[in-house]
Amino acid sequence: MTTALFVKANNRLESVSGKLYEAFLESYKASNPHDTVVELDLFQEHLPYLGDVMINGNFKSAQGMELNLEEKSEHDIVARHLDQFIAADKVVMAFPLWNLTVPAVLHTYLDYMHHPRKTFKYTAEGLVGLLPDKKVALLNARGGVYAEGDSSEMAVSFVKNHLNVFGITDIKTVVIEGHNQFPDQREAIIEKGLLQATQTARSF
Ligand SMILES: Cc1cc2nc3c(=O)[nH]c(=O)nc-3n(C[C@H](O)[C@H](O)[C@H](O)COP(=O)(O)O)c2cc1C
Repeated sequence: MTTALFVKANNRLESVSGKLYEAFLESYKASNPHDTVVELDLFQEHLPYLGDVMINGNFKSAQGMELNLEEKSEHDIVARHLDQFIAADKVVMAFPLWNLTVPAVLHTYLDYMHHPRKTFKYTAEGLVGLLPDKKVALLNARGGVYAEGDSSEMAVSFVKNHLNVFGITDIKTVVIEGHNQFPDQREAIIEKGLLQATQTARSF
């Protein structure tokens, strides 16, 4: 049984990245009626920031040491999300470009995914990712147009860099861009991107 995890990082009503999410989800479900589809709305979750308590909890847990209540509480949240991500055969992530990067909830979620021995390991040759078989689709909306490799775009590139650490290279990307920069073409740009999401989901 294939499990697909759908992660949404936007709580704005009528958001373009939310529309991408819905279009992809509907198409994916129609094409894969027997898959297990799990939805994770990051804005509905309690996601404490990576900091001293969480770092200590993760360290102590890895060493088999006893965690205090606060550390255990944060560590349990991290472990639940990490295990869910690892268990998924496919992961779909939908997010907007906000202030040149991803919403903070997605940054925090990605912090949780960094776990030596679970998602990557250290070797003499450098980091080796441990999830090479996972397929990922990234769905992003951004109001302006960004050239490939533009260093000021730190959302899609940011998420891809994280995934590469985990050995994930099978990454499909659907981006809707320029609908704020070219308001006269807004509807057509969005419609084209949603169609692309629907088509990409069919073969994902
Ligand atoms: C708080 C905020 C920050 C934004 N920052 C950028 C930005 O840095 N670059 C850009 O091209 N568009 C930016 N936009 C426009 C969004 O990328 C655009 O609305 C896009 O559709 C993604 O947001 P949505 O999924 O909520 O619609 C920003 C929008 C908001 C609300």
